[in-house]
Amino acid sequence: MSRKFNLFSRRDMLKISAGAGAGLALGNWSVFAQNSQSSGLIQRAIPSSGERLPLVGIGTARRYNVGTSAEERAPLKEVLKRLPELGGKLIDTAPSYGTAETVVGDLVRDIGNRDRLFIATKVRKQDLADAKKEIEQSFEILHTDKIDLIQVHNLVGLDDVLPVLREMKAAGRIRYVGVSTSSGRQYADFIKMMEIEDLDFIQVNYSMTSRTAAERILPLARDRGMAVLVNLPYSRGRVFQRAGDRAIPDWAADYADTWGQFFLKYILANPAVTCVIPGTAKIKYLEDNLGAARGPMPDAAIQKRMEQFYDALPS
Ligand SMILES: NC(=O)c1ccc[n+]([C@@H]2O[C@H](COP(=O)([O-])OP(=O)(O)OC[C@H]3O[C@@H](n4cnc5c(N)ncnc54)[C@H](OP(=O)(O)O)[C@@H]3O)[C@@H](O)[C@H]2O)c1
Repeated sequence: MSRKFNLFSRRDMLKISAGAGAGLALGNWSVFAQNSQSSGLIQRAIPSSGERLPLVGIGTARRYNVGTSAEERAPLKEVLKRLPELGGKLIDTAPSYGTAETVVGDLVRDIGNRDRLFIATKVRKQDLADAKKEIEQSFEILHTDKIDLIQVHNLVGLDDVLPVLREMKAAGRIRYVGVSTSSGRQYADFIKMMEIEDLDFIQVNYSMTSRTAAERILPLARDRGMAVLVNLPYSRGRVFQRAGDRAIPDWAADYADTWGQFFLKYILANPAVTCVIPGTAKIKYLEDNLGAARGPMPDAAIQKRMEQFYDALPS
């Protein structure tokens, strides 16, 4: 039987058997089962404020770049509606993701759940006047007077834009300031930037196929008190191709029921990571991905074992 979307995971069954004395003795199976499924997601604190975020959010690049028809937007609307209902919170978007920021803004307004979400967007303009314009447009497009996090996208315009973001934070228009990258070619500059700038957040690519961030960037974020969003956690889906249709190994079953959870927990095993943002445009992926914010997290030894298992798979 496919492991993918079982009603009860092995981890749920362990929780259920632990509480079976209470739940089943009362003949209260359905309530017990429901509680076990809707149990809260694990959260980690943003170091600069102590505010806690669920370990898994969603990314909107590519798949949210759709038109205006209700048909195209319907599955995305379902995801954005269910995200906070399932205990999730963070949405990462950007003006440069085609229509994605507009789609997020429109759908969140239509659903009416803005106050249950943490919306992170970006600014990517070299010229300061253009950057300011892009930021103001984000407020309009997202139909909000407060944006939770704005990140300087891929270091573009960093020196000019960061002071503007800090002023906006001081004025209460944005809550947090960050900088993103998703390319190893930028890491040297990114590290230099992290050493001197005070930031609430960094965003960086880190996955089973891109492990370099764990060497310097993640430890530095911890030392410098910066929250970390992890982008490209599935290397745009490449990790699933390598896993193929084989089952996850038995020894990993205490941590993950699916390959998605295996790959996300591999990342979350690193305590510097605050939240992973897998590209999530389907409800079945949302449910699967949020499952990685439940149950035990791998320690360093299990994380190493995950790497060894993956590396031994035929490529
Ligand atoms: N420099 C930057 O700031 C930067 C750069 C890149 C990305 N980002 C952010 O990071 C986010 C994540 O990156 P990404 O979306 O490009 O790539 P990703 O998260 O590494 O991979 C997304 C792919 O994984 C698949 N997927 C998602 N959940 C799955 C599951 N549970 N089981 C099986 N397949 C699953 C999706 O399939 P489908 O195609 O079928 O939906 C999609 O193709 C972006 O959306 C964006 O918000 C930021």
